[in-house]
Amino acid sequence: MAPIDPHSFTDSAHPLTTHISLSFYFDFSSSAIHASALLSLQTTLSGPLHLDARSISVVSVLDPETLSSIPFSLSDPDPIKGQKLTISLSDKSSILIIYSTTVSSSALQWLKPSQTFNKTFPFVYTQCQSIHARSVFPCQDTPAARICYTARLNIPRELSAVMSARHVDRRQPISGEAASLPCGDDLWCAEGRVVEEFSMEQPIPPYLFAFAVGELGFRDVGPRTRVYAEAAGVVLDAAAAEFSGTEDMIRQGEKLFGPYEWERFDLLVLPPSFPYGGMENPRMVFLTPTVIKGDASGAQVVAHELAHSWTGNLITNTTNEHFWLNEGFTTYAERRIVEAVQGEDMATLNIGIGWRGLNEEMERFKDNMEFTKLKTNQEGVDPDDVYSQVPYEKGFQFLWRIEREIGRPAFDEFLKKYIAIFKFKSIDTDAFLQFLKANVPGIETKIDLELWTEGYGIPPDAYEPVSNLYTKIVSLASEFKTGRMPREDEVADWHGQEWELYLENLPKSIEASQILALNARYRLSESKDYEVKVSFLQLAISSRCRDYYGEVENTLKEVGRMKYLRPLYTALVQGAEKDEERIFAKRVFAETRECYHPIAQGVVESIFSKHM
Ligand code: BES
Ligand code: ZN
Repeated sequence: MAPIDPHSFTDSAHPLTTHISLSFYFDFSSSAIHASALLSLQTTLSGPLHLDARSISVVSVLDPETLSSIPFSLSDPDPIKGQKLTISLSDKSSILIIYSTTVSSSALQWLKPSQTFNKTFPFVYTQCQSIHARSVFPCQDTPAARICYTARLNIPRELSAVMSARHVDRRQPISGEAASLPCGDDLWCAEGRVVEEFSMEQPIPPYLFAFAVGELGFRDVGPRTRVYAEAAGVVLDAAAAEFSGTEDMIRQGEKLFGPYEWERFDLLVLPPSFPYGGMENPRMVFLTPTVIKGDASGAQVVAHELAHSWTGNLITNTTNEHFWLNEGFTTYAERRIVEAVQGEDMATLNIGIGWRGLNEEMERFKDNMEFTKLKTNQEGVDPDDVYSQVPYEKGFQFLWRIEREIGRPAFDEFLKKYIAIFKFKSIDTDAFLQFLKANVPGIETKIDLELWTEGYGIPPDAYEPVSNLYTKIVSLASEFKTGRMPREDEVADWHGQEWELYLENLPKSIEASQILALNARYRLSESKDYEVKVSFLQLAISSRCRDYYGEVENTLKEVGRMKYLRPLYTALVQGAEKDEERIFAKRVFAETRECYHPIAQGVVESIFSKHM
């Protein structure tokens, strides 16, 4: 008897769940789901079964055949893992859990009509990675376990639902089908309710469970791709235009990594509070609206989430300690797709932005070097607190190093074989290394595999990219130190990513007068591209140029993507003599907190507690 994952109560001696059948009644008036979850186990069990749960209120646990009660208990909450739900089984292989979610269920964001684009109907969606699925349904919430599921979602008739699963039906509620739910049959079958049914037949780790419910519309943009968003013409048209190249990318992906196994590749554009750039929910990728910039640059984020269809969703890290297997491989695969559809210069630019980011993380983790490693020890660590570029960019660098060693054709073969062998499995770093050594004999004599996977910092054989464009931008940034700003003709062709790279390569703090001069010429504080705007505002804050605090406040109130919240709030509160900034940050957060996803709320709170 031992836990198999530092972030889960799942026990090695217990059978894993293979299938979950869910019934959800969405109660928008109280921001709660009244639910039942029928769990089927691999084998029968007599004795205690441990499940993960967070912020849910369990009404009863029943034997699904007899509907008789099964004893259960909930532990006191652990700040990271949540609660251990212990169910005492006697020779059973299935259990029916009746429960409701609560307002603090960390995966769920409930939006009031006023927080949506059309301002008419409410909206709710999930973000389960890394360890939030347990706040939607009790489960063995570890990526070591893979489950299939079916779900029926009972929602108001004006709304529709999407899931990371096959859509089966939209129909009238049926009397008796939800008799044991906390809402009862009357509410389930009330006037104005409909049921949407879904089925996921491919086994997925629980963190890939996802749904969204709202006033949704869609546009078809390819033979297997539909873009969903809030049902407003302008939003849908912009999204359809931005993602029109998706089929092309799927084909490139198939060429590089093997068949696309998930049938559909639909996209859902969420409201601005979505806490990530993208989330690779299978069959239905979730995206922030900030990727729609009208210049097709959202393609990079789509390329990344698409690449997860092979690396992450087919082959999954067994625990978050091996997260680099998901994100490092995906970053590598994303850049191969970008190279194929946008060219080598664009791919190199992205590698360069990543290289800068990786070097900055070394500074962030200088007192906590564990998180500069690829394989990390996460005992007692909240994955949301240590989320960083390291698994992405150091992971990318490791794979790129192997590619340089054995050559691209051999590496491509290797990748295809890796995916074919491990698909629908969860693996750890050792399994990868063994496979590498078996398939590339002698690799360990060429590359210090242990240094790369277990060592701190950036290994000496990591590689800063070179290309005319990349090198030019980096050298322009270093000329800024001597007072030279780029001329208009030098930046004439620059888009968001060029500016992003330029700004990230400037010194961390510069004269306020230089910030003002740069902005007077290039209006970066008004950029429609949040990557550019946030990089600029971050620089303004760390240079103590207070002229832009109004724009900082607007930005923190407009978007909930953590990639923007983290650097802005951190720049405001970290360091000495920041009293004014701290008061400002606290006020803005107090006024905006309710609009952020619970995960983002937690992350901002942890930045505050570290620096105040
Ligand atoms: N899987 C991640 C998002 C994630 C990571 C959610 C950890 C929760 C915990 C997703 O694939 C991702 O990496 N998104 C990036 C996109 C970028 C690298 C193009 C993001 O959100 O910025
Ligand atoms: Zn990713």
